[in-house]
Amino acid sequence: MSQFSEEIRKRRTFAIISHPDAGKTTLTEKLLLFGGAIHVAGAVKSNKIKKTATSDWMEIEKQRGISVATSVMGFNYGDYKINILDTPGHQDFAEDTFRTLTAVDSVIIVIDVAKGVEAQTRKLMEVCRMRKTPVIVFINKLDRDGKDPFDLLDEIEAELHIHVRPLSWPIDMGQNFKGVYNIYEQKLNLYTPSKQYVTENIEFKDIDSPELETHIGGPLAEKLRADIELIEGVYPEFDVDTYLKGDIAPVFFGSALNNFGVKEILDCFVQIAPSPRPVQAVERVIDPDEDAFSGFVFKIHANMDPNHRSCIAFVKICSGRFERNANYKHIRFGKMMRFSSPTAFMAQKKETVDEAFAGDIIGLPDTGNFKIGDSLSSGEEIHFKGLPSFSPEMFKYIENADPMKSKQLTKGIDQLMDEGVAQLFTNQFNGRKIIGTVGQLQFEVIQYRLLHEYGAQCKWEPLSLYKACWIESDNEEMLANFKKRKAQYMATDKEGRDVYLADSSYVLMMAQQDFPDIKFHFTSEF
Ligand code: G4P
Repeated sequence: MSQFSEEIRKRRTFAIISHPDAGKTTLTEKLLLFGGAIHVAGAVKSNKIKKTATSDWMEIEKQRGISVATSVMGFNYGDYKINILDTPGHQDFAEDTFRTLTAVDSVIIVIDVAKGVEAQTRKLMEVCRMRKTPVIVFINKLDRDGKDPFDLLDEIEAELHIHVRPLSWPIDMGQNFKGVYNIYEQKLNLYTPSKQYVTENIEFKDIDSPELETHIGGPLAEKLRADIELIEGVYPEFDVDTYLKGDIAPVFFGSALNNFGVKEILDCFVQIAPSPRPVQAVERVIDPDEDAFSGFVFKIHANMDPNHRSCIAFVKICSGRFERNANYKHIRFGKMMRFSSPTAFMAQKKETVDEAFAGDIIGLPDTGNFKIGDSLSSGEEIHFKGLPSFSPEMFKYIENADPMKSKQLTKGIDQLMDEGVAQLFTNQFNGRKIIGTVGQLQFEVIQYRLLHEYGAQCKWEPLSLYKACWIESDNEEMLANFKKRKAQYMATDKEGRDVYLADSSYVLMMAQQDFPDIKFHFTSEF
């Protein structure tokens, strides 16, 4: 227990994640409306780059502008301080989202009732599972026709590998959508399509009461009773501890656009979602209640003004209290630093703050001191573990297109990689630099930013690779042999680790067969 425990216990720091178009932006906006952080619908701009505009620079710049403002949205709700961390909508920036997930204590996943589990949801859930992040599921767009709710729950369990437990249940859907029965609070929430008003809810402790018929009519009342009976029979009783361990996900149904089911999920969320959790650092477990401050950088946002190479480093506070102008240790540099203008993010505004507590995110103006994953502390040597790098999906050689500017190019590449824009590998055979990304858009962003922020010109050369594999083995002879045989395909990542660049799944399979003592990993930590 520390003197700040009460502050820390109030905090709920989380991210909303979804496949594009499931309704993440809409849900975020409605949550902000409830928190009084905004007053009109439409105030939260979607930060997604429209799918058609892969080469639209204005869109990318706009997105970068918007995403500073909406990177973290803090607001008070009752006794709680809520921090929503925004994640990029475009899947080419999935790495950004993965990293943001290292800074949250829980997650709400939005799923479109008609589309069910989609590719991006699956990937993001993998990261949550790896980190045992507690997850709540919101099934959205019940005002439209969609999949049968029981089928959808089965699909979530099968595809996302997590047990589910409905805490609300829809009464019909689409044109005939009548509302949801809130199992968690035993209330009947009737639906009136409305974008402005919150719907009323009726206390309904006894679902067998004939009053149910007067609200939703005979056939639906009967169906609801049968559904609830089935739910109680099939799904385990909801247990908060199992949810907090990341083993079961409570599920809510609603329509974010119509403001329906949003307050219910928020009310349940603040009650059950975790306040800041202990974090495993390399040296020891850091408890949020400790008096001493500690935190780590999970995101770096470059300034849009190319004349000033200044950034904002986003720090998640893991323990204690952060104070403006106090001295903190930058662990990688081993030196003390002072921060005179840390910013906090409240109600979509960024303002200088004097203090912040575990669970909060602060922005530190920076001129190149920070890398993603850097740790800060009151003095103790604490190294927070980052998220491992995942094998990129696309690879290209990066070449200098302006011989006069090779220094600028090297510096630009280095800094953009520190910011986590993409991954850099250096081929051990010919020394050429290879950039690995999740999607094509990242190459375009890198080229554009190198030119506009560093005055450097690059060109890309195609490189057809299947996966980057981090390799290890106890059998040193076999490892040396492998590296010799695959010399042309061996590279070094930014941390100096050996990476094998497999050019096809067949070649990789053969390598695995021929070198049985070597382990091939698709992530950088194992
Ligand atoms: P995203 O951030 O997850 O990508 O999704 P976003 O909230 O932008 O929502 C995607 C589209 O789905 C939007 O329509 C939005 O209005 C709609 N939507 C969100 N919630 C609901 C809902 O409960 N019911 C229905 N019927 N639609 C919903 P759009 O036409 O793409 O954008 P816009 O022009 O309306 O902004």
